[in-house]
Amino acid sequence: MDGLDALKAKYLAALGNAQGEAALEEVRLSALGKKGEISALMSTLGKMEPEARKAAGAMLNVVKDEIDSALRAKKAALADAALDERLRSEWLDVTLPGRPRPRGTIHPVSQVMEELTAIFADMGFAVAEGPQVESDWYNFDALNIPPEHPARQEHDTFFMARASDDPRPPHVLRTHTSPVQIRAMMEQGAPIRVIAPGRVYRMDMDQTHAPMFHQVEGLAIDRDISMANLKWTLEEFCRAFFEVPSVELRFRASHFPFTEPSAEVDIRCSWKDGQLKIGEGDSWLEILGSGMVHPKVLASAGVDPTQWQGFAFGMGIDRIAMLKYGIPDLRAFFDSDLRWLRHYGFSALDMPNLPGGLSS
Ligand code: PHE
Repeated sequence: MDGLDALKAKYLAALGNAQGEAALEEVRLSALGKKGEISALMSTLGKMEPEARKAAGAMLNVVKDEIDSALRAKKAALADAALDERLRSEWLDVTLPGRPRPRGTIHPVSQVMEELTAIFADMGFAVAEGPQVESDWYNFDALNIPPEHPARQEHDTFFMARASDDPRPPHVLRTHTSPVQIRAMMEQGAPIRVIAPGRVYRMDMDQTHAPMFHQVEGLAIDRDISMANLKWTLEEFCRAFFEVPSVELRFRASHFPFTEPSAEVDIRCSWKDGQLKIGEGDSWLEILGSGMVHPKVLASAGVDPTQWQGFAFGMGIDRIAMLKYGIPDLRAFFDSDLRWLRHYGFSALDMPNLPGGLSS
């Protein structure tokens, strides 16, 4: 068989020049592939005389093996080169000092949510949840705030976008956690005892207001619940939460469309040398709104107001966190400043519970 040496030389040269896997594969296909040159020559063997076939076959096999092993060698060389290149580019100076990841802590708001959940759980309250993007009906109508009610303006509501030809009222970012009262009663009926901690939104921004803040809603409905139960529950809560032997609460008559009667609640405190002390002194700090759930609210949530009654309250979580932990500026809560978090944050391993201590 003529020309085999030339053929071999051609492919060995091609292999030598191949730069990378793809080029290598191309050479392999054109030499040894099903439609490759060597295979084509192999298929001519059948037409040869036995003696000639034997000789030509042996020669072809030798060439085939040589190309094959050259191919493997080149493949290994390419892999070695790639590894060398990687080792060169990804070198690491193991004598450099380590760079620790930034270490976060539990945010005071998360901590306070855990604390108040532990306290209310101990009093038999379950946790309820609702969406932050809320329908107009849940956020307002169902809570006895009809469309033209002035309370709607007071809420500084963020509205979601709606197509301009859509007649339905737009969804809102919930302005309070009170819509969760409605959702919880519709889901569970009465009797019910729930708290609903979560994010709420109002267009407001200064040292004590942020456009997103946190509230916890409380709701207790049964056959004979009164303002006295509300007062006891809130006093128990404040004593446990502020970790003081006694607290004094002051109920001020107020107005909310969804409660009747309504009361705003202040807590007795003192300011000495810029230090706030809860439970003593001559000052009062407002901490929450509350009242007996309005019969219309019960009815719109499918609870019969002739059979059931109860109280509800709504408390600012950021506010009580600032009071308990002496944090002066609300805006810092949402700055994600690690130095601030290291100062005011809590250990992830300290889950607040009543027997183990809330904030220890
Ligand atoms: N939803 C009221 C607010 O955001 C608080 C509140 C809740 C008042 C429940 C009474 C009863 O201001």
